[in-house]
Amino acid sequence: MKPVIVVHGGAGRVPEEDEEERWEGCRRAALAGWRRLLQGGSALDAVEEAVAFLEDHPLFNAGRGSVLNVAGEVEMDASLMDGKQFQAGAVGAVRNIRNPIRLARRVFEDGKHILLVAEGAERFARDSGMTGCSAEELVTERQRARWEAMKDTNLGTVGAVAVDGTGGVAAATSTGGLHRKRPGRVGDSALIGAGTYADGLWGAASVTGDGEAIMRVVLAKTAVDLLTGDRHPQDAARLAVAVLGERGQGEGGIILVDCKGRVGHAHNAPFMSCAFMDETSGAPLLLR
Ligand code: GLY
Repeated sequence: MKPVIVVHGGAGRVPEEDEEERWEGCRRAALAGWRRLLQGGSALDAVEEAVAFLEDHPLFNAGRGSVLNVAGEVEMDASLMDGKQFQAGAVGAVRNIRNPIRLARRVFEDGKHILLVAEGAERFARDSGMTGCSAEELVTERQRARWEAMKDTNLGTVGAVAVDGTGGVAAATSTGGLHRKRPGRVGDSALIGAGTYADGLWGAASVTGDGEAIMRVVLAKTAVDLLTGDRHPQDAARLAVAVLGERGQGEGGIILVDCKGRVGHAHNAPFMSCAFMDETSGAPLLLR
């Protein structure tokens, strides 16, 4: 099996001057995930690595650079799923964690539960030896200024999907959620089936966009189900986004791989940055 990784940096409305930096961030995240695959990492290792890279990048709404809730605080959601093991880990409404996707991985490895939220998730992070960070470390000047100006950034979520050399598939998603959301709001990115899904029989999906609409149509699972019958991931991605728009009445986007390593991506939002890499591409390719 030939490995492949696809990364997205969120779908929505972006200031034009930010677009190139977003493409470049996705390109570098795809490379980070690809290197993990080359080192013999699993698809799950690769998607975790790519998403952690984007969480560290201040331009993306995940980890550092997350949007602020109505109280002016960062609360983040993240999830990942391994298709071969058919197991998942997720966290919701977590604070003071630099890389929520790495905490989701610890929930996965612990194996007792799938989703931990808020103080319980933060306590689990401490108990499992994860170093926390101050609330200020996650807040960029840009997001603070937007919050003060009541200016909606309306661009959420980063994610990745991958296939490894053994044919294993995985997906990961992470977000600061919605600008000025209520404290305690948990969105699709924490929910297996809505924001993230992987099934070793078919493929893996990571979703971005209007969380409430995505949850109503359980979009990531819907998209993976559309891969049955050997449907190409590109067709499945388009159909899934049509479900989001028509049935869910929402905007967003999706990246998808199937177990054969074929790739799909689609969005009905004005902008979505994505990058892809496999052996034949030689370097990350932007999926414009
Ligand atoms: N899709 C990200 C969110 O709504 O939280």
